[in-house]
Amino acid sequence: MLEGLKSGVETILKQEGRSVDERLQTLCEYLKAEVSYYDWVGFYFRNGEKEELKLGPYAGAPTDHTIIPFGKGICGQVAVSNANFVVPDVTAQDNYIACSLTVKSEIVIPLFVEGKNIGQIDIDSETPDPFTEEDERFLEFVNTEVAKIL
Ligand code: SME
Repeated sequence: MLEGLKSGVETILKQEGRSVDERLQTLCEYLKAEVSYYDWVGFYFRNGEKEELKLGPYAGAPTDHTIIPFGKGICGQVAVSNANFVVPDVTAQDNYIACSLTVKSEIVIPLFVEGKNIGQIDIDSETPDPFTEEDERFLEFVNTEVAKIL
């Protein structure tokens, strides 16, 4: 199912007449609209040389968490671990930053440019335990494609 979205992702990212932020915004909206259990889709990027993440383009409810220190929450942990983080049940996590009480699960996949972890895609779901290895492989693909335009 997610496999069928790859060409749509490529088409959006190839729109060279539009800024990177515009393309990422459209990409977030596309993923949120196409995948029933993707309820919030956004990118966080490292904030310059600071040990913190800054919210980039996203689709879904506005969040107060526009800056996340490295190590804090699921996102901040991925900033230092460089590894995918799949959370089937957010209530089971001690180091978690709640954006909305309706969120049940989360997936965060780091984004590498020339081997450096420069940000991540973050997806919240209102469905418990919806993410599989298919989501991980698909979102790794998304990030590899995004890295090409950064
Ligand atoms: N839940 C995230 C914070 C970002 S919001 O999901 C948009 C975390 O624990 O890092």
